Amino acid sequence: MTQSKDIRHFLDICDLSTEQLRAVVDNALAMKQARAGAPKGAREPGEPLKDRLIALIFEKPSTRTRVSFDVAMRQMGGDTLMLSSAELQLGRGETVSDTARVLSRMVDAIMIRSGSHESVVELAELGSVPVINGLTPRSHPCQIMADLMTLKEHTGRLEDAVVAWSGDANNVARSWLHAAARLGFEFRIACPAEFSLPEDELAWARNLNSRIAQMDAPADAADGAHCVVTDAWVSMGDSDVERRTRLLTPYRVDADLMKCARDDAIFMHCLPAYRGREVSAEVIDGPQSVVFDEAENRLHAQKAILGWCLGG
Ligand code: CP
Ligand code: NVA
Repeated sequence: MTQSKDIRHFLDICDLSTEQLRAVVDNALAMKQARAGAPKGAREPGEPLKDRLIALIFEKPSTRTRVSFDVAMRQMGGDTLMLSSAELQLGRGETVSDTARVLSRMVDAIMIRSGSHESVVELAELGSVPVINGLTPRSHPCQIMADLMTLKEHTGRLEDAVVAWSGDANNVARSWLHAAARLGFEFRIACPAEFSLPEDELAWARNLNSRIAQMDAPADAADGAHCVVTDAWVSMGDSDVERRTRLLTPYRVDADLMKCARDDAIFMHCLPAYRGREVSAEVIDGPQSVVFDEAENRLHAQKAILGWCLGG
């Protein structure tokens, strides 16, 4: 089983070069600026993905990823097939390998949100069309492209930013780590030892001379940061709710923690958020929060990712 080396998958941020990541972020920002005020259904000039069809497969719930990919394809002139794995034979045990080869005959690209990162990699290896990771337990690279865009948009910084994470070092945190290692910004992760990033991931990042630090105290991570970011304490697929809540409560982002960051620091959260748990309502609904710009930027970032994968 072989695949063309020319296929551009988007499986993880660490797979792209610094230049490729910068280009995707800048392209997303440019597309956003160019269509300011346009109706949501307005097509991009030249419909760069005209006649292209993408399968969007969801094994888990989604609001932002689902809608942003669907709208992105329409704006670029293409179309989507929305599929839930429960409705596919995949849900009854058909192999990923056979599914990959069948879908490759009928669509131009596949976006998948899966409970198994390995299955997404297998889909990419065995199919013959670009595969985009729409979230796995390991990573959430599309989210972080939108977050990088939001960081640059609001702070004017990327490589020289200081980003502080407080909470569960989960899939979203891991994609932040990958981005920091590739782009060179400082990334500080405050988390309990029980929910920290794996040592091999940290070692990979440190080998790139990146500015990464994992620590216990949220205040140390947030000290002078340009951006404070967190995510839900219980991700899709996690079961140990009580233990997570007990160990992660000290990592809640509240007004006191935001005071440790710069006065003009922004607050980001990929959403969905749980007010009063990982973030106080005062912070997420307050003036430093940019979470709805961040959510909108999923759309612009998806278009840049699709363009990168499909050459639009
Ligand atoms: N942030 C994010 O991926 O949201 P959805 O789960 O709604 O897609
Ligand atoms: N870490 C969360 C992100 C949801 C968008 C999860 O995996 O459930």
